[in-house]
Amino acid sequence: LKIDVETGNGVIADYYVVAGCFCLSGFHLEGSVLWNDAILPMPNDETVHHTPRRFKRGWMWKQFFLQEEYTGTDNQYIGKLHSDLDRGDGTVMYVLTGEGAGTIFVIDANSGDLHATRSLDREEKPYYSLRAQAVNKKNGIPLEPETEFIVKLHDINDNEPKFEKEVYTANVPERSHVGTSVIQVTAHDADDEMFGLSAKLVYSISQGHPYFSVESNTGIIRTALGPSDMDREQREHYQVVIEAKDMGGQRGGLTGSTTVNITLTDVNDNPPQFSQSIYQFSIPELAKAGEVVGRVRAVDADIGRNAEMVFTLTSGDGLDVFDVTTDRNTQEGILTVKKPLDYEKKKSYTLQIQVRNTHPDPRFVSVDSKDSATVRVNVEDVDEPPRFERSSYILEVKEDAAVGTAIGSVSAVDPDARRSPVKYTIDRHTDVDRIFNVHAGNGSIFLQKPLDRENLAWHNISVIAAEFNDPQQTSRVPVYIRVLDVNDNAPTLAYLYDTFVCENYKSGQVKKIQTITAVDRDEPKDGHRFFFSLAPESPRANFSVRDNGDNTASIFTRRTGFRRSQKSTYLVSVVISDRDIPMQSSTSTLTIRVCTCTRDGTMELCNAEALSGSAGLSTGALVAILLCVLILLLIVVLFAALKRQKKKEPLIISKEDVRDNVVSYNDEGGGEEDTQAFDIGALRHPEAMEESNKLRRDILPSEPLYPPPPLRRATAASARDNADVRDFINQRVQEHDGSPTAPPYDSLATYAYEGNGSVAESLSSLGSASSEGAQDYNYLSEWGPRFRKLADMYGGEESDWDC
Ligand SMILES: *[C@@H]1O[C@H](CO)[C@@H](O)[C@H](O)[C@H]1NC(C)=O
Ligand SMILES: *[C@@H]1O[C@H](CO)[C@@H](O)[C@H](O)[C@H]1NC(C)=O
Ligand SMILES: *[C@@H]1O[C@H](CO)[C@@H](O)[C@H](O)[C@H]1NC(C)=O
Repeated sequence: LKIDVETGNGVIADYYVVAGCFCLSGFHLEGSVLWNDAILPMPNDETVHHTPRRFKRGWMWKQFFLQEEYTGTDNQYIGKLHSDLDRGDGTVMYVLTGEGAGTIFVIDANSGDLHATRSLDREEKPYYSLRAQAVNKKNGIPLEPETEFIVKLHDINDNEPKFEKEVYTANVPERSHVGTSVIQVTAHDADDEMFGLSAKLVYSISQGHPYFSVESNTGIIRTALGPSDMDREQREHYQVVIEAKDMGGQRGGLTGSTTVNITLTDVNDNPPQFSQSIYQFSIPELAKAGEVVGRVRAVDADIGRNAEMVFTLTSGDGLDVFDVTTDRNTQEGILTVKKPLDYEKKKSYTLQIQVRNTHPDPRFVSVDSKDSATVRVNVEDVDEPPRFERSSYILEVKEDAAVGTAIGSVSAVDPDARRSPVKYTIDRHTDVDRIFNVHAGNGSIFLQKPLDRENLAWHNISVIAAEFNDPQQTSRVPVYIRVLDVNDNAPTLAYLYDTFVCENYKSGQVKKIQTITAVDRDEPKDGHRFFFSLAPESPRANFSVRDNGDNTASIFTRRTGFRRSQKSTYLVSVVISDRDIPMQSSTSTLTIRVCTCTRDGTMELCNAEALSGSAGLSTGALVAILLCVLILLLIVVLFAALKRQKKKEPLIISKEDVRDNVVSYNDEGGGEEDTQAFDIGALRHPEAMEESNKLRRDILPSEPLYPPPPLRRATAASARDNADVRDFINQRVQEHDGSPTAPPYDSLATYAYEGNGSVAESLSSLGSASSEGAQDYNYLSEWGPRFRKLADMYGGEESDWDC
């Protein structure tokens, strides 16, 4: 075989395969023995056929091959380097450089024999690139340019396949079809995939037959048995061992293995089944609705959602009496009472109960697959209290019914088999006034006291029935007694009418002066109907009454010329009657005043006497009011007196006023250094203020307090005198500020500072004072009014204020 190969340095060389095997893999040529026409002659081989074409003479050792993992004891021979300039006369020396030169690879400098000193691992480093040069042995001059070559390691199968994981876990639904893919496992072999079969892997299953199989070339694990054999309820967990073998699975290949834990997941392939075919329960007859009778259990081999089930009652004689629900936690059926039970009526029930899955899987179990069982419920007898015929009674009685009248009756019986006799009583809490009574033996209710509908229209009482033999067994029933109306009240005027008649009605004029209505406390079924008329004894000369037919009546004057001076009030008696039986009537008297009126009939002036009755106050009340006013006055006077006394109190007690005034006086007193004087907080809290007075130590007095230095008269021209005044004032300020006994609200300081910015004139009063003597403090007179005001407030004398 002749192959054209372009070598690294751009030379096309013809290669001939002479012997041995080779393979082409990827982009580089590998062969055990390749021959190139440049190597001439090939030792021990005269048969090589070569072409006449030659491009270049030179090194011809582009590639050497070396077996990895060499186990021999001597150095492994790789090949021989030869330059065609070497004529075998010993003048040429071969020099090796590059990866591993001198350590891994050694060269015989004379012969060019190349050896590897130790065994090498292809998986560690697949090839080494080296450089060789032929030099003159004597002078070391290179005979030819350096040439690169490669020593390539031949792969041997020295690595076993390794799986990505030591243990795999996988799930597959139970009852899957044959060949359902479960998981893919993959192994890797470090050996050369390009060469030989060292990395050619074949998967096989060594444990897990016959349930699973593995695809030999892909490592995909599949189920190997049919749905009927892959039943989770039979066996849930499987351990499968997969082997990977290199050398294409041939004998002598290396193997690696892994474990795959496969779990079958649940599908709903089992219907629920009752654990018993007959369930027997008993329940007391007094069990309330919702009370649990018992629990039934069905088993389902599936788990989780696939085991969820519903229970239903399908047939039997208690379908409307009982109910069944499912306990979501335990999947049990809970039988409960739906309707009241009665042992005396029915002593036992038989029911058919059914169970089915909530989420059936039609692939495995029919959707209507269900299981049934029989439930028998025995009702237990309970000693029950008497039972009233009705849950409540409404009785009616006329309000005029005589005492002793039977109003009605209630009735109760003992539901138990022995029918104990019943005794009736009235719950006295519901009939405190003992208006009613019940016959203990037959339940007749009697009236004990007269009734009045207008007072109380309903009497709602409770009647208690107790078993005669067992008085603990009681029950009660409400009895609503309605009092029926009887016409026992006469109609009366609806209001107290304030009626008047004007003096100046024109003659001949019949004037309506009032419309009246009536009220009646009775409540006739058809409503009220009132009749009005003038009382027969009432003289008809002055007023008349006209029934308007609509339960109202009008009062008219019959004549004119009413005079206040003659007669100030008239009394008119009106008879009002109703239509009921027995008829009731009353006579009411209207008071009609005579008044002077304006022209349009508005009342102007009436007799005072008539008014005083309704609006006046009794003398007793008047006296009481007067007394109250007097006491109030007394309190006010006392209060004022106390207040006055308070004002006179010494300075330290009326702190609040002081503080307020001082603050408003713009307290510049101590100057800026006197921080405590500015401490409004101290002023607001008297205790703190007193304490700060004691601690006050801003400026210590440097001069005795009294007497102050004599003052000379200050004139406008004299700057020296001004200075004196200033000195004096400053001194005083210091004294005052430094004085531990000084009050914190020193208003004098304000004055002193005024001097600071002033030219002498403004201190005129001070000046005049100073001329009279050192002890004279009339310089304060300008400020006198203010201090007097303060003194007034503090209750002291102006002279007390030594400042
Ligand atoms: C109950 O007994 C009383 C007294 O004997 C009698 O007057 C009344 O009519 C009886 N009531 C009934 C409902 O029998
Ligand atoms: C008594 O019962 C009647 C009917 O239920 C009701 O209308 C009435 O208000 C009740 N009276 C009292 C005082 O509870
Ligand atoms: C009717 O008025 C006259 C004149 O004012 C008077 O004398 C007489 O008493 C009055 N009749 C009645 C019943 O008030």
